[in-house]
Order: sequence, then structure tokens, then C-alpha cells
Amino acid sequence: MKAVVLVGGEGTRLRPLTYATPKPLLPIANRPFLERQLTWMAASGIDEVVLSLGYLPDAFRAHFPDDRFGDLRLRYAVEDEPLGTAGAIRFAAETAGIDERFVVCNGDVLTALDLSALVRFHDERDARATIHLVRVTDPSAFGVVPTYPDGEVKAFVEKPPPGQAPTDWINAGTYVLEPSVLERIPAGINVSIERETFPRMLEGRGALYALEHDVYWLDIGTPDKYRAAHLDVLAGAVGRPPVADATETEPGIWIQPGAVIDASTRLVPPVLIGADSAVGPGAYVARTSVGAGCVVGYGARVDGSVLLDGAEIGRASDVVDCIVGPDATIPEAGTVRDEILVADRPE
Ligand code: GTP
Repeated sequence: MKAVVLVGGEGTRLRPLTYATPKPLLPIANRPFLERQLTWMAASGIDEVVLSLGYLPDAFRAHFPDDRFGDLRLRYAVEDEPLGTAGAIRFAAETAGIDERFVVCNGDVLTALDLSALVRFHDERDARATIHLVRVTDPSAFGVVPTYPDGEVKAFVEKPPPGQAPTDWINAGTYVLEPSVLERIPAGINVSIERETFPRMLEGRGALYALEHDVYWLDIGTPDKYRAAHLDVLAGAVGRPPVADATETEPGIWIQPGAVIDASTRLVPPVLIGADSAVGPGAYVARTSVGAGCVVGYGARVDGSVLLDGAEIGRASDVVDCIVGPDATIPEAGTVRDEILVADRPE
């Protein structure tokens, strides 16, 4: 089965991290997010993935130089202009010659959805399109999707005012589509599948269904959620170990090969210390993911944070709820809260 993954967005909410690296290639617990998504797809019988690209397409080609990821064949559809979610799906499907039912995933959704169950549900109902729905406590920031008892979609309610949503089930950004849906998408212009194509499919009955499946689900697209995704992955939300070569030395403490941790360091789970990183004497590292080749200096405190590869935290500094970008440095005794810090790059 083929799949289209939408990875063409600029990821503006994760700037400045996404100036250099597109959001899907940012790591979650020391593994690029897209690799996690591709592994999940391959485990559900997907054998070819079309990456729907626009922003920084060469970064993806460089990441997968053989156009493969394990047994998955990768293809690329690069838009000249952003085509929106539906326009991008049509363009990607045409570029790759997709002519049978296929899967579509947003490239920023981390989930434990059983993709095979979504495809089965779609086939059993002879649907034209099927949407995965998850339940959230506050649906007011999402596309809310009420359904009939057999799963047929009743309506789309985009970002309902707080307390007025008809249901707590929201569009989770994973779809199964028949190729006939592509004919409903105008070619070459910016079209949104959730705001235009799906609502228009409700003009007739029996075409659009949705599966309520309340599994782990997170859109990683904001700094808070990007950090939260690390803690969830370290806690086993999408399987264990959180990254292939990590060893759990105490409950919730994961260490990768070559990491050197001083005996006087205090680690509070969940914590991941990446390969060849050094954590100095008297340091305190809590609820944090540390990348490869990082340094946490003597007596530093790092809490609720994500350090990407090569980050350096100076002695006695205090870093809380931060994302420290690749090779970025926090000076000695620096105090930072709730920030994204990136290395200065040569002009
Ligand atoms: P923000 O700029 O922070 O909103 O992030 P984003 O650019 O990723 O946008 P958003 O989170 O709304 O997009 C959801 C998914 O669709 C992401 O995986 C994007 O990469 C992808 N996406 C959004 N718009 C387009 C588009 O025009 N073309 C393609 N190919 N993908 C898109």
C-alpha cells in the first residue's frame, strides 16, 4: 500500500529551529521524527511513501540518499508553491502515479494509531475517504468531527467556541483515501482537505467516514508540544526502548552508548542521555532529553528541556523548559526559561 506524507510546511511555530532543519527531520528523543513515522507506517504494510515537499526539499533528499528507508521506497513530490493539504495530496498522488486506495499522514503527528485498523474500517464501509479521530479535552482549537453511529461523518466544525463543540472527537490528520477523491480537488491551486474537500463530500451520503480511536496522539508543531513529545516517547507512548540503542539503567533513565555521567549527577526520570555526551559532577538533569555529543557542565541544572546534538550547558547554569538547538551554548551561570536557543551561524 502507498502513502503520502505531508511534509511541505515551513514549521513557523518552531522557528528558529526550523530555519535550518524542516520540522519532520527534527529529532524526537534522538531520532528524526520522520524516521519514527516511516517505521510506524512500514509496520502497517506501507511499502512506498511519497514525501510531499515544498520547504527545504534538499534536506529530505540528503537524509535519504538512496531514496529508501529500510524496506520502504521513497518518492518525492516537490511543489513550486504551497498547494495546501488537498492540493499537495493531489500533486503527490499524480507525481507518483497512485491509482489505488492510499493512506495520507500529516508530517507532524506522533501517534500509536493502528493504521491497519483504519484501513479495515474504510474497506468495510466501502468509504471514499476515512478520517482518524481522537478525543481531546478541549476541542476548541481543532477541527471537530461528529459522526453517525456507523461512523459516517455528520459535519465538520472548525475551531468551535469553548464549550460549544458538538463532540470531543477531532480530526487527527491521518486518512485513507480512494483515488476518486483526487478528482474532487482542483489542480494547481491551494486547497485545504479539512476545510474544503471533506466538507464538500458531505453533500452526498455514504462517502466520508471516520474512525473514533482514542490512542496516543500529539501534534508536535509548537515548542511546548515538541518538548512534551520527548517526555511521552521516553515514557513509552509509542513503544520501548525510546530509541534503538538506549539502555534503561534505572526506571525511566535511558542512556546511549559512550555517554559519561558523573556519579554525583542527579537524574530525575524521564531522562535520555545521548551517545558520547558528558554530564558533569553535581549536575541535576530532570525530565530532559539530551542529544549526542552534548556537555552538561559542573553543577548545572537542566529541567523539562530538550538539548539537541552538540549543545553545551555551561557550569552552574540553570536551564528550564528550553529547547537548546544543535551546537548551541549556554554560558557559565546562565539562566534561561522557556526559550528556544540556537547557535550563531556564520553569515
Ligand atoms: P506552522 O507554520 O507552524 O503552522 O507549521 P506547518 O507549516 O507544518 O503547518 P501545519 O502544522 O498546519 O501543517 C500540517 C502538516 O501539513 C505539516 O506536516 C506540514 O508539513 C504539511 N503542510 C502544510 N501545508 C502544506 C503545503 O502547502 N504543502 C505540503 N506539501 N505540505 C503542507
